Amino acid sequence: MESKSWKESYTELERLVLPPDTNIFNALYGGRLVEWIDNVAGIVATRHSRRRNVTGSIDSLFFLVPIHLGDIVTITGKLNYVTRSTMEIEVNVTTEEGLTGTRRVATKSFLTYVAVDQDGKPTDVPGLKIETEEDKRIFEEAEIRSKNRLALLAKIKADLKKQDTY
Ligand SMILES: CC(C)(COP(=O)(O)OP(=O)(O)OC[C@H]1O[C@@H](n2cnc3c(N)ncnc32)[C@H](O)[C@@H]1OP(=O)(O)O)[C@@H](O)C(=O)NCCC(=O)NCCS
Repeated sequence: MESKSWKESYTELERLVLPPDTNIFNALYGGRLVEWIDNVAGIVATRHSRRRNVTGSIDSLFFLVPIHLGDIVTITGKLNYVTRSTMEIEVNVTTEEGLTGTRRVATKSFLTYVAVDQDGKPTDVPGLKIETEEDKRIFEEAEIRSKNRLALLAKIKADLKKQDTY
């Protein structure tokens, strides 16, 4: 399979925050934002792999500033790192005040998606082309996160096995 550039799967979604998405304080529900983040990452994974994909993990997600009714939310998804069947996607969210145009970063998160075949078994995806020094730096940083993530996953599985619940 031929490697692909991150530019081929880069995705941007914009949403106006409306009442069905807000709580009693006129701020966006955290769960709704997670849904949009997962949706954007899912599009990136699909565009890169052209396979079925499942969300494998969402790394710690910090909500840095509230997003208000009437704000314009921009969610970008970019592929950082690929192994055999797994893709790390960075999703950044900015919020823009509709009336002033002031923009702030609201969250930054890393999701991993695993490409699966018709039986739900992990399957190969194209590699990621490293074209610039910046691509290389991002790939190497993601590699460290991937090692930490997999060590945590192995520990969780080992603990669950001990309790006979995995
Ligand atoms: C993710 C899933 C397909 C992995 O299947 P598995 O048989 O446990 O996979 P393996 O242990 O053989 O690992 C396969 C690959 O997935 C990666 N992986 C497995 N579980 C992962 C997880 N939870 N997070 C990140 N990566 C994961 C492994 O590192 C490996 O990567 P590589 O092929 O690139 O080297 C399986 O655990 C699953 O279906 N989980 C549920 C997914 C889901 O329902 N998501 C939410 C709704 S879409």
